[in-house]
Amino acid sequence: MTQSIVLTNHKGGIGKTTSATNIAFGLVAALRHYGAAHPLVLLIDTDSQGHASLATTGRRDFGADNSLYTVLMAERKDAAQAMADCIVQSTWDADLHVLPASPMLEGAERELMGVAGAPFRIAEPLSRIASHYAAVVIDTRPSFSLLTEMGLLAATDAIIPVEPRYLETVGLLSVMQKISDIREGWRHPILRVRGILVTKMDSRVRGHNQLLGELKAHSVLGGLLRGVVPQNEAVSYSHHHHLSIFHYEPKAAAAKAYGHIVDGLVRQLFGRKEAGA
Ligand SMILES: Nc1ncnc2c1ncn2[C@@H]1O[C@H](COP(=O)(O)OP(=O)(O)O)[C@@H](O)[C@H]1O
Ligand SMILES: [Mg+2]
Repeated sequence: MTQSIVLTNHKGGIGKTTSATNIAFGLVAALRHYGAAHPLVLLIDTDSQGHASLATTGRRDFGADNSLYTVLMAERKDAAQAMADCIVQSTWDADLHVLPASPMLEGAERELMGVAGAPFRIAEPLSRIASHYAAVVIDTRPSFSLLTEMGLLAATDAIIPVEPRYLETVGLLSVMQKISDIREGWRHPILRVRGILVTKMDSRVRGHNQLLGELKAHSVLGGLLRGVVPQNEAVSYSHHHHLSIFHYEPKAAAAKAYGHIVDGLVRQLFGRKEAGA
């Protein structure tokens, strides 16, 4: 079964898209490094803002006929074909494919609200094409919306990025609750919280260190901490140039951090001892 990793948190601006895109690319590089026959990774952008699509394809012109919106609006029997048709190659790597978002997703959410089976409109077609891919990474919008629910129902693993600020870490428990509601309420037992990523960490800020310390010591959350990504200007520049952090500045602190995170994921998901991203 293809592992499908969703990056989620109902807060915006905390590094979901940065993490989803760089982890997706990192997985391609790591799988290739290990000689995987098909190191193909699919990135699904469920956020109508389309930042992950823009960063990885350089395009923001996806719409009614060539985006996730098309898949959501397709007849059930046609949805898997629509999904396959709408997937494009990223500009980052030939083996990183993207199912792009469109601003129309906003309206799709309203149209599908209350429609039977709507929450499975990503999971169902994905289950029919996922075997083409070694892994799937799903970026979500900053809310517990229908589209986020669709992303969670299409995933096997959830990673929660969080900034090291007090209210953000308090909000973590409600994200964990939402994931467990999906697991139990929607009978999706395969979904598990794979880890928490602390993003935009500035070790010069006392409050950041204090919160990281508290998180590490927390009885539940502490064991889930999978990585710390430093606050690093190179990240903003990499977005600006529509490049992964690994391409933009491979020696940047954030590139090293994402490299470690990908190593850990590859170990967990694919049973490898180590990987280079
Ligand atoms: N490690 C980091 N260091 C510095 N800036 C970052 C870092 N991670 C993300 N950012 C910046 O923070 C903003 C929000 O990041 P983004 O990944 O789009 O968050 P989200 O998807 O959660 O809204 C962007 O401007 C991005 O460049
Ligand atoms: Mg985002």
